Amino acid sequence: MSFQLNDGLTVPEIGFGTYQLNGATGVNTMVSALNNGYRLLDSAFNYENEGAVGQAIRQSGIPRTDILVSSKLPGRHHRYQDAIATIQESLYRAGLDYYDLYLIHWPNPLEDHYVEAWQALIDAQKFGLVRSIGVSNFLPEHLNRIIKETGVTPSLNQIELHPYFNQADQRQFDTEHHILTQAWSPLGRASEILNDQTLTALATKYHVSVVQLILKWDIQHGVMPIPKSSNPVRQRQNLTLDFTIDAADMAAIDQLTKPDGRTHDQDPARYQEF
Ligand code: A2P
Repeated sequence: MSFQLNDGLTVPEIGFGTYQLNGATGVNTMVSALNNGYRLLDSAFNYENEGAVGQAIRQSGIPRTDILVSSKLPGRHHRYQDAIATIQESLYRAGLDYYDLYLIHWPNPLEDHYVEAWQALIDAQKFGLVRSIGVSNFLPEHLNRIIKETGVTPSLNQIELHPYFNQADQRQFDTEHHILTQAWSPLGRASEILNDQTLTALATKYHVSVVQLILKWDIQHGVMPIPKSSNPVRQRQNLTLDFTIDAADMAAIDQLTKPDGRTHDQDPARYQEF
């Protein structure tokens, strides 16, 4: 029911994505997710919704200490002092006095300040601003570099991951380094993947929906998915995963990956996040 990070923090096996959940509607969706059982909310400075996340937590009535909140450092704030100030700004926006997780959103390798940003996160953790620090969209070369230059391994790496882009190599790298892989867009933005013939047949076999099948496939691979749904029934359905996919069916789902399976044209080697 949970994963343990390399720094000892226990995190749920599934989180709730909040990208594009903004304003009062966003707050309502997040309150509903919390009331339906989610205990990890994934946000980012660039989502412009950290305030909504903080509001949802207060409105839910659930104790802050029962909830894990993550946010992410934008690419334009990778310089050390700027990164520290941005983390403080992130906290101020949310009305929180700490984040449970704080990630570098993208490596922005063409600007090449991500090692400095990582040092800032290391210090932010020492200052008590964040409990656990990680990265997002990092390739092995970026991870190797920050580990070598600082001696500190991220607790998790959040990457695009779904059956059409299953990131087997990156997952293996993460596992070897005791880094938890977290999956963004776990449903491939609910694109044609939800009508895939193989997935549909397997979902029928296990008496679950295609979405439940995908989320369970993530978790059985040791990956934490962070699905998003505005619908309370689907929010609950996505947490109801009391079945086990057998090894042959896991392998069949693994076969669905495609080299060009990204649903977003964002190659971390080139992508410049603002
Ligand atoms: P909805 O909010 O109407 O439930 P991703 O996390 O890959 O970006 O995908 C999010 C999309 O997946 C949302 O549009 C959401 O729609 C949809 N979705 C989430 N859970 C389910 C589900 N159990 N069945 C169908 N669609 C779902």
